[in-house]
Amino acid sequence: GEIRRLEDIFTVDTPKLKAISDHFVSELAKGLSKEGGSIPMNPTWCMGFPDGHETGTFLALDMGGTNLRVCEIRLPEGKGEFDIIQSKYRMPEELKSGNAEELWNYIAECLAEFIAYHHEGEKLDKLPLGFTFSYPATQDYIDHGVLQRWTKGFDIDGVEGKDVVPPFEKAIAERGVPIKLTALINDTTGTLIASAYTDSEMRIGCIFGTGCNAAYMEHCGEIPKLEHMNLPKDQEIAINCEWGAFDNEHKILPRTQYDVIVDKDSPRPGQQAFEKMIAGLYLGELFRLVLVDLHENPNVKIFEGQDISVLKQAYSLDSSFLSDIENDPYENLQETHDKFLAELKLKCTKPELELVRRLAELIGTRSARLSACGVAAICKKKGYKTAHVGADGSVFNKYPHFKARGAQALKEILDWDKGRDGKPLVPGQGQDPVDIKPAEDGSGVGAALIAALTLKRVHGGN
Ligand code: BG6
Ligand code: GLC
Repeated sequence: GEIRRLEDIFTVDTPKLKAISDHFVSELAKGLSKEGGSIPMNPTWCMGFPDGHETGTFLALDMGGTNLRVCEIRLPEGKGEFDIIQSKYRMPEELKSGNAEELWNYIAECLAEFIAYHHEGEKLDKLPLGFTFSYPATQDYIDHGVLQRWTKGFDIDGVEGKDVVPPFEKAIAERGVPIKLTALINDTTGTLIASAYTDSEMRIGCIFGTGCNAAYMEHCGEIPKLEHMNLPKDQEIAINCEWGAFDNEHKILPRTQYDVIVDKDSPRPGQQAFEKMIAGLYLGELFRLVLVDLHENPNVKIFEGQDISVLKQAYSLDSSFLSDIENDPYENLQETHDKFLAELKLKCTKPELELVRRLAELIGTRSARLSACGVAAICKKKGYKTAHVGADGSVFNKYPHFKARGAQALKEILDWDKGRDGKPLVPGQGQDPVDIKPAEDGSGVGAALIAALTLKRVHGGN
């Protein structure tokens, strides 16, 4: 009974996938128009792909959400090569809803520490920095960016609507850190460029992680909102789609009552409708909300008579909770049983174990299938019959079956019967016409490459 209902509301069948991706295509175009739409389609001023001969030493800073990472990348002579050293710093949870000054100070401290450690006693010229700031930003120049709005649960006062670069530079200058911000980039753009550095078939960079988003190269002639700049029509520019905002007007996505609650209780209700159904930050929360609802439903009553107070805490489960359940190798779901007991203080019966396993599958599968709609939409818009897509992020890299489920959905949306090798297609085995592959390090190598391309463009050279 209950499993059937959940299957009904969480399953996205082929016709629905096709309808979503068709609507997605028109929303991508709308975002590029003068009127604009829900999807921001932000021009990044990253003008074209690297040719493989970029050189120099660069710093990269990644402020994604989970970690803060600082890298130093050396691009030597020689096509497609790089050396990288890096340090990771914790991104303190309090900072995400704290104040702006604390954020910039913390980041500047991390950079200062990195330089002090790796360049002790050296006299340094200012190192060019590629700053991966993975939030929607309006850019008039590649080394500036006005935060449109926080996403991924961030909620820091006084940053939205402002250029993030001046306060960042101020914090750095106060500590005398020898750095010059050269490019402010998005993680998807970094992923696209880093992956294209080693793979000439690379067309789209995607993140399936805490958040979900993509970037691709568009011709300026296809971007009416840049018309006033008189750029050559065939000039390419990377567009950071910010597709997490797809269907903010709730026209097409099959939202459930649980998606409505996730949105309502988030710091930015009404924003990131697509992202909230598929990204890692929300998968555990959706799962939790369903379980609480079933416990409270007099006709279902799971965990009957038990204390569900741990389960009642918002965001107490992250997507790795679902991954672990989907990875449970035992027929009797022993690991799932032990996990519920250890982490939620709940004892599950056999039918309850089967229900939670099926629920994890449904939520994980929906995430992968809906994500594929975005990839298919970019391919349709660009007319790509074949392409490589570089993907990164915790969900893509760690969530079981995510890749195969996404590949299966792409096959359904784009009606493939054969693979690149002409044989019947087994999705996700490398023969898919549009093949989603693990990316090169976008916020490290990608940020360095974009900084290098920017210096080349601004200071001449070829
Ligand atoms: C990392 C990339 O591996 O994945 C980052 O280097 C990106 O650029 C991140 O932001 C996204 O994944 P998650 O799971 O940390 O959100
Ligand atoms: C969110 C951010 C976007 C980022 C994505 C993946 O959607 O708004 O900028 O690319 O998460 O990290």
